[in-house]
Amino acid sequence: MLTLTTVDEVRAITDAARRAGEVVGFVPTMGALHDGHRSLLKAARHECQSVGISIFVNPPQFGPSEDFDTYPRDLLTDSLIAEAEGADWLFAPSVAEMYPDSARTSVHVADLTERLCGVSRPNHFDGVTTVVAKLFSICGPARAYFGRKDAQQLAVVRQMVRDLDLPIEVVGCPTVRDQDGLAMSSRNARLSPNERTAAAVIPRALNAATEAIVKGDRNPDAIKQVLTEFIEAEPLAEIDYVEIVDGVTLAPLGGEIAQRWPDQVLLAVAVRFGATRLIDNASVVITAAGIEVVY
Ligand code: PAJ
Repeated sequence: MLTLTTVDEVRAITDAARRAGEVVGFVPTMGALHDGHRSLLKAARHECQSVGISIFVNPPQFGPSEDFDTYPRDLLTDSLIAEAEGADWLFAPSVAEMYPDSARTSVHVADLTERLCGVSRPNHFDGVTTVVAKLFSICGPARAYFGRKDAQQLAVVRQMVRDLDLPIEVVGCPTVRDQDGLAMSSRNARLSPNERTAAAVIPRALNAATEAIVKGDRNPDAIKQVLTEFIEAEPLAEIDYVEIVDGVTLAPLGGEIAQRWPDQVLLAVAVRFGATRLIDNASVVITAAGIEVVY
C-alpha cells in the first residue's frame, strides 16, 4: 500500500489507474478505523481495481466546542488496517495541504443539512460537503463508499453529487454493529463502562419502532413515541433528537398520513451519554415485494 500525503501524489496514482482502465474506488474517513470502516474497504475491494482510503480529521466539520483536538489519531494502526483490507493507496494529507490559507470556497447543500444533526451542529455539513467535494476532485473515483450509519451525511453527499453532476457512484453500505447491536463508532471508546452498556438502548429502540411499522403502524407521532419512551427509560440517555423523516428529502413526517407514507422512511436518533453524542438510524423501505427494514 502506498501512503500519500500530497494532492499531486494522489493525482499521479489515480491518473495512472484510470489510464490503465481500472475502476477507482474511494473510502473517505477520519481514521480511528474500526469494523465499520473495514466493511467499506471490503466493498470497494470487491468492486474496484484501484482502492484508496483517505484519513483526514477535517477541522471545518467540527464546531468550536466539539472534539476536533481530542479526536483519536493513530495513523500507524490505521495504515495496518487499511493494508490488511487490501487498500492500494492511503491519502493522509496535512491540514495545510487540504486548506492552504487562501481558500474561499465552500459547498453548501440546502434544506437537507438544516434538519436532524444540522440543528445542533449548524456548520457541520458544509464542512463535510466541502472536504468530500475536494477529495472527490483530488482522487477522481468512479465509486465512493459511505456508511448508512451516517444516513444524513449519505443523503447530503448523494444530493451534492446529483446537483453538481459529479461522475461518481455513491455506494451506501450497511451499518456494522457490536454484539449488543450498538453501531460501531470511533466515539464509542469515550463511553464509560456504564454508558457503554446503556447505549445499547439505541438499537433496541430502533428495533421496537421498526417492528411497529412492519406490523402496520403508520402514525409517525406514535412511532416517535415508541422510540422516545424506549430511550427515556434508560436513565443515562439524554435525547438530542428522535425523528421520522422521508428517507430521500429528510422532510419530517407528521400527523396521521397513512396515504402519503413515503416508500423510504428514515428513523433517526441522536442521544447523549455523558459527554458523548451517538447517532443511529434505521430505514423502512416499501417495495412491490413487501416491506423491509434496512440498517
Ligand atoms: P468517519 O466518521 O471516519 O466515517 C467514515 C465512513 O465510515 C462514513 O461513510 C461512515 O458512515 C462510515 N461508518 C462509520 N461507522 C460505521 C459503521 N458502524 N458501519 C458502517 N459504516 C460506518 O464520516 C466521516 O468520517 C467524515 O464525515 C468524512 C465523510 C470522512 C468527511 O470528513
